[in-house]
Amino acid sequence: MSVHHAVQRVTVPKLQERARAGEKLVMLTCYDASFAAISEAAGVDLLLIGDSLGMVVQGRDSTLAVKLEDTEYHVRCVARGSERALVIADLPFLSGFQASPERAFLAASRMLAAGAQMVKLEGGAHMVEATRFLVDRGIPVCAHIGLTPQLVNTLGGYRVQGRGDAAADRLVEEAKALEAAGAALVLMEAMPSPVAKRVTDAISVPTIGIGAGPDVSGQVLVIYDILDIYPGRKARFVKNFMEGAPSVKAAIEAYVKAVKDRSYPAPEHCFEK
Ligand code: KIV
Repeated sequence: MSVHHAVQRVTVPKLQERARAGEKLVMLTCYDASFAAISEAAGVDLLLIGDSLGMVVQGRDSTLAVKLEDTEYHVRCVARGSERALVIADLPFLSGFQASPERAFLAASRMLAAGAQMVKLEGGAHMVEATRFLVDRGIPVCAHIGLTPQLVNTLGGYRVQGRGDAAADRLVEEAKALEAAGAALVLMEAMPSPVAKRVTDAISVPTIGIGAGPDVSGQVLVIYDILDIYPGRKARFVKNFMEGAPSVKAAIEAYVKAVKDRSYPAPEHCFEK
């Protein structure tokens, strides 16, 4: 007789519990099955199929032209390669999720059918209604505030957000509203560390930072950045974990360890004001 040991996938309540206990959560972007398997074997908790795939995989100069079908394809690949990590699908700009909560639901449900357990929606106050609509209908949501690259044309570039009291207050209020709407995680991109700390202190769901300093519940980076594969411009918060690592798995393990022991991000990866 054989005994089947099913691997337990990380759940949102478990992640929330671990974050409350002070453990740092580790998220990494992922676009295919092999990197999914290697990343979770290295200890990554959350795999994000980010629309960054438009830049790092498709070679575009922004994320805007990624199609729903593109992300859906990569979600299927990652889901096939992973059995333990929580798989999060980024809703791409072209899915039209910004147009209405119903459009967001239709796009998000395709991501769940492809194998994701959660979707990420870029946007602050204007995503509160869609977040509530999705969560009420069984789709867990990761909010994404601060620098939202899909708004590059209205933000006037990839700029640090939340500078100045009014902008910082707005981010705190947006995070609170998104939490109240049911967001399970709040991802914060490119903002001064003290602002990210204020947001983390103001809400009870875990926060995940990228260029948001050390005072968040966890970190995320783009896998092509930590492995030094992407040839384009590198943001201040990027760290090359391939340097000195004997293998790709060892580099991802070094990233996981650095997040967990809080040696990443170091001051040179942060925006203080
Ligand atoms: O698209 C992406 O990879 C992202 C992360 C950088 C947070 O949104």
